[in-house]
Amino acid sequence: MAAAALVIFFIVAGAGVAFVAFSGGPGRAREAYLTGGRRFFRIVLPLLYLGVGIAVPAVVIASRHSAEGGVGTLAGKQGTKQVQRGKMLFRQTCASCHSLAAVNARGVTGPNLDQIGQVTRQRVLNALRIGGTGDGRMPAGLLTGANAHAVATFVSSVAGRGNP
Ligand code: HEC
Repeated sequence: MAAAALVIFFIVAGAGVAFVAFSGGPGRAREAYLTGGRRFFRIVLPLLYLGVGIAVPAVVIASRHSAEGGVGTLAGKQGTKQVQRGKMLFRQTCASCHSLAAVNARGVTGPNLDQIGQVTRQRVLNALRIGGTGDGRMPAGLLTGANAHAVATFVSSVAGRGNP
């Protein structure tokens, strides 16, 4: 964003300098613009301002968009903070035991989460609370509270969908 603002600043400054130079000095430039001595500038300058008026908001909107989604499967889809957090927590806490294509996890201790049928938020939360299906092979309570919810939201939104 700062870079874009800088570029626009230079475009405007450059246009101003060109205007002054073409018109034969600051005094003449002012005169030319005000009296309409040169039709060229009367047409070009408004167009220029119009262009900047469109370019600035466009750049602002574009850069805000790219900041939100991040990269990978989630870009543009579920770019919420919770999902991003869940992704990070999954890498830290779950990837050692589970495979999940969305984060290129290759754990083999537990089942491949892309291949256990439908994975809902509730199923993940449940697995976290009781430890897998409760037969003691997955530790219970690995994550709790907001962390558990973040991972559940993330996993349920990507499991079984591969990594396009
Ligand atoms: C120490 C290895 C290990 C870790 C770490 C681990 N799991 Fe598991 N997980 C397992 C095993 C083993 C199973 C299968 C055992 C079972 O189904 O009871 C399992 C099963 C599951 C299931 C399937 C439950 C079902 O309904 O069939 C889900 C979902 C799951 N884990 C999610 C996670 C998440 C999310 C994390 C990270 C917070 C995680 N696991 C961390 C070993 C692990």
